[in-house]
Amino acid sequence: MKLVFALLLSSLASVRGATYSISDTVAGSTFFNFFDFEAIADPTHGRVNYVDQATAAAQNLTFAGSSNSIIRADFKTVLDPNGPGRNSVRVRSKKTYTTHVAVFNLNHMPEACSTWPAIWETEESIWPNGGEIDIVEGVNDQSPNAATVHTSPGCTMPSSRSQTGTSTQLDCNTQVNSNSGCGVKFPTANSYGPSFNSNGGGWYAIERTPTFIKVFFWPRNSGSVPSDVRNGGSTVDTDNWGTPTAFFPNTSCDLTQHFSAHNIIINLTFCGDFAGAVYSQDGCPGACVDFVNNNPSAFTNSYFDFTSIRVYQ
Ligand SMILES: *[C@@H]1O[C@H](CO)[C@@H](O)[C@H](O)[C@H]1NC(C)=O
Ligand SMILES: *[C@@H]1O[C@H](CO)[C@@H](O)[C@H](O)[C@H]1NC(C)=O
Ligand SMILES: *[C@@H]1O[C@H](CO)[C@@H](O)[C@H](O)[C@H]1NC(C)=O
Repeated sequence: MKLVFALLLSSLASVRGATYSISDTVAGSTFFNFFDFEAIADPTHGRVNYVDQATAAAQNLTFAGSSNSIIRADFKTVLDPNGPGRNSVRVRSKKTYTTHVAVFNLNHMPEACSTWPAIWETEESIWPNGGEIDIVEGVNDQSPNAATVHTSPGCTMPSSRSQTGTSTQLDCNTQVNSNSGCGVKFPTANSYGPSFNSNGGGWYAIERTPTFIKVFFWPRNSGSVPSDVRNGGSTVDTDNWGTPTAFFPNTSCDLTQHFSAHNIIINLTFCGDFAGAVYSQDGCPGACVDFVNNNPSAFTNSYFDFTSIRVYQ
């Protein structure tokens, strides 16, 4: 009996949360101080032109107000088919994190056929050896959201685990199925795209420890948003957050070996390896690159609107 109890306690210990203290409040007029701008060629071959910080500010692709901050794509320019792609923004946190919680209070995410927005974490210089955790990701306005982990070989997820989402693939190895990763589909449509936006957005959160990665989502009007998430507390206690939407335990994946310290990255690309590949299948008109080139006004709602990002350690 004692032994059973001890075993139960130790198995609980490996999935239980903890209390974390605020380390970074990313909000208001200083929102972009947290990030470096990455004016790089898109590694995923999108029809995009990532601009630097000065260009983003001059073209109002980034805007930090007192109560919210915007990251958007250009929605005014018809593109030369032989020139660069649509202007957009990719930002990466200056700091890196191992064990941490990050809460994203998001009011709106980019919409339109061809869009591929993401909020994610990785260490780009050693990818995929330091792992990748996608918190928000989707393409072509297709709900729901998916949270996905990508790793070097030797990391798989159990088929049965404590989460409200639905696993798609269990092997996280980037070499399997063209880097599909081990993904978890969220249970509700309002976790992504136009449905997320019309519902007023919501909160996404990640909790990463040496023994598990959890991703949570609460729609804006949910009755179960933890008070420390809703109020942006100076501490958060993830023990009170309930069952995560996606759960990636260390059962058959040594997280300490597969995951390095990560930057937080926010990017918005068009077409490319994911959105381009399923563009027609997702019911979008014509050819993806032509659509991006010729229809600037389609990108009027292609923006992230954050109230805040809070990181706890
Ligand atoms: C954007 O985010 C995804 C994560 O979902 C990443 O795999 C991809 O390389 C990024 N793409 C661009 C173009 O920055
Ligand atoms: C820049 O973008 C912000 C946020 O969308 C908007 O409120 C503001 O009016 C824009 N400024 C200009 C000059 O267009
Ligand atoms: C998972 O974490 C627990 C608790 O730290 C540890 O005892 C166990 O060895 C880890 N399992 C793997 C496969 O890394």
